[in-house]
Amino acid sequence: MTTSNLVQAAYIVSAVLFVLSLAGLSRHESAKEGNAFGVTGMALALVATIWLSVDRSGSRLATLALIVAAMAVGAAIGLWRARVVEMTQMPELVAMLHSFVGLAAVLVGYSSYLESSDAGTADGLHLVEVFLGVFIGAVTFTGSIVAFLKLSARIRSAPLMLPARHWLNLTALVLSAVLLVWFVRSHSVVPLLVMTVVALAFGWHLVASIGGGDMPVVVSMLNSYSGWAAAAAGFMLGNDLLIVTGALVGSSGAILSYIMCRAMNRSFVSVIAGGFGQEVSMGEDRDYGEHRETTAADVAELLRDASSVVITPGYGMAVAQAQYPVAELTAQLRKRGVDVKFGIHPVAGRLPGHMNVLLAEAKVPYDIVLEMDEVNPDLPGTDVVLVIGANDTVNPSAAEEPSSPIAGMPVIEVWKARTVVVFKRSMATGYAGVQNPLFFKENAQMLFGDAKDRVEDIIKAL
Ligand code: TAP
Repeated sequence: MTTSNLVQAAYIVSAVLFVLSLAGLSRHESAKEGNAFGVTGMALALVATIWLSVDRSGSRLATLALIVAAMAVGAAIGLWRARVVEMTQMPELVAMLHSFVGLAAVLVGYSSYLESSDAGTADGLHLVEVFLGVFIGAVTFTGSIVAFLKLSARIRSAPLMLPARHWLNLTALVLSAVLLVWFVRSHSVVPLLVMTVVALAFGWHLVASIGGGDMPVVVSMLNSYSGWAAAAAGFMLGNDLLIVTGALVGSSGAILSYIMCRAMNRSFVSVIAGGFGQEVSMGEDRDYGEHRETTAADVAELLRDASSVVITPGYGMAVAQAQYPVAELTAQLRKRGVDVKFGIHPVAGRLPGHMNVLLAEAKVPYDIVLEMDEVNPDLPGTDVVLVIGANDTVNPSAAEEPSSPIAGMPVIEVWKARTVVVFKRSMATGYAGVQNPLFFKENAQMLFGDAKDRVEDIIKAL
C-alpha cells in the first residue's frame, strides 16, 4: 500500500468521524461523545496530512520542522486565547476565527494560481476554482472582521444605511461575474486582484448593513461561508478531506442560519442580502411614560407569595455570571413548593444555546428549562416573571410596533404575567439598540444593579 492510499483511507475514516461528531453534537446527552469523535477525526486528519506533505517533499526534515514550528505558534496562540476568553466573548472569538479561514482561502487561491501559472498547468476549471475560492474567502474575511467589531462593541451594532445599498451589492456581484470571464480568458492576475478588492468591500458592506438583532444569523451565515471557503481551498489543493469538511461546515452553518431565521421570523434571503427590504426606525423619540423601581426585599416578598415563577435569562445573566445564585434561588423556591420554570429564547445571550450551557453548568434540572414556544402559553397564568439580564428577547415592540427593527421577531411574552421584575443595571437598550416598552408597563418593576448581587440579595432576604 502506498502512502497516498493510506492517507486516503485515513481521510475517509476522519470524514466518517466528523459526520458522527455532528450527529452526536445535535443532542445534550450525546454531545460529549460527539466532541470525542470530532477530536479523534481531527487528530487523524492532521497526522495523515503532515505525513503526506513530508513524504512528498524533497527535504523531509525541513518540511517537518516548518510544519511543527507553524503549528507550535498557532497552538500557543490558540491555547492562550481559549484559556482567557470569557463565555460572553465566545461569538467574537468565533467571528475572528472565521476571518482566518477566509484569509487562508484567499492566500491558498493566490498561491495555487501562481504555482499553476508557473508550471503552465492552469486550465479553465482550475482558474474558476481559484476565482471562487478567493471570492468566498475575501467576503468571509472582511464580513467576519465587521462581525467581530460589532460583537465586541468596537463599532456600533446599528445597520449601516448607505444610499442605494442594494444596488451597490448587485453591482459588486455583476462586476465579479464579468471579472471571472476576463480571468478565465486572459489568465491574467489583474481581474483576480480587482475582484479581490471588490469582494473585500462587498463582505464588509454586507455585514455592516445588518442590524444588531440579526447578528446571530450573520454569525452562523459567516460560519457557513467559512466552510465553503475551506471547501474551495480543498478543490484548489486537491485535498478531498478539506472538501468534505468544508461542505459539512458550510451546509450545517446554512441549516443553522435557516433555523435561526425561522425562529426569529426573518427572511433568510433578506438577511444574506444585507438586510434587503428592511426599512427600520429605532423608535427612540417615543415617550413610553415612567418606570417603577423595586428592591430585593420587595421581590423576595413577592416570591414568597407566588405559586408560579418563570425565569427568563438573557445576556446580562452571562455578564454577571449570575447562573449560580439563580440556580440556588430556583432550588429554594422549589423547596417551598413554588412551581419554577425557565423560558429560553432561541437567540438569548450571544451564541446559540448560550443560556442552556450556563444553566446546565449551574446544575439547573433540564426538565424545567423550556423553549420560548413551550413557555409562552403558560405566561398569562404565571404569578411572577424574573427577567434576568434579558432585553431584546422580551421586548413587546417586536409584536406591537411594525416599524421596529425587531418587528416580527417572536419574543417571550413576559408582560402577560401578573408581575414582571426586570434585573438590569440601567435603562440602557439591549443589543439591537431598541427601546423596550416592557420597562414602562403597569405590571413591570425594575430591580437595578448587577444581576448576581441582586439575586444574592433576594436569597438573603428569603
Ligand atoms: P440583550 O438584548 O443583549 O440585553 C442584555 C441586557 O442585560 C442589557 O439590557 C443590559 O442592561 C443587561 N445587563 C448587562 N450586564 C448586566 C449585569 N451585569 N447585570 C444585570 N444586567 C446586565 O439580551 P438578550 O435579551 O439576551 O438578547 C440577545 C440579543 O443579542 C438579541 O438582540 C440577539 O439578536 C443578539 N445576539 C444573539 C446572538 C445569539 S446566537 N444568541 C448572537 C449575537 C447577537 P444594562 O446595561 O442596563 O445592565
